[in-house]
Amino acid sequence: MQLDDLYRQVIMDHYQHPRNRGQLEGDAVSVHLHNPTCGDDVTLQLAMDGDVVRDVRFQGVGCSISIASASMMTEAIRGKKLDDALALSDSFHRMIRGEETDSEDLGDLEALQGVSKFPARVKCALLAWNALERAVGIEKNRGRGTDDGDGAAG
Ligand code: FES
Ligand code: FES
Repeated sequence: MQLDDLYRQVIMDHYQHPRNRGQLEGDAVSVHLHNPTCGDDVTLQLAMDGDVVRDVRFQGVGCSISIASASMMTEAIRGKKLDDALALSDSFHRMIRGEETDSEDLGDLEALQGVSKFPARVKCALLAWNALERAVGIEKNRGRGTDDGDGAAG
């Protein structure tokens, strides 16, 4: 896929040096999702301090777009309240669908905006974010919980 050079460098940097890759010890919400179109997967963990994301890790197998998106997402949501993380996810989803976003806080995530021109890669970019939304849902509904249901992100 053809992407702006600067954006491509940002994506490759996150792909080759993923931030927050690994596993959290102790009490964490955990969500595992597959990308149904390729079988790649992500496991996302959030450690909470009240309604603030205190820490976050991800693991999984995926292409450069999916790993870079997961890496950037973890950086963007650490320290955010759950509602703010959801608002960012909403902005990111809209950017990836090629829609207007009102958010100025996408920051580095704008490196992925070119994905909107490649429908086959949209699910790659959204995989970790769909895991985030599920994790936030679990956290909001149950206070604490685990979803190892091996769900597929549609
Ligand atoms: Fe590739 Fe699950 S089949 S990671
Ligand atoms: Fe599997 Fe992108 S090709 S996540």
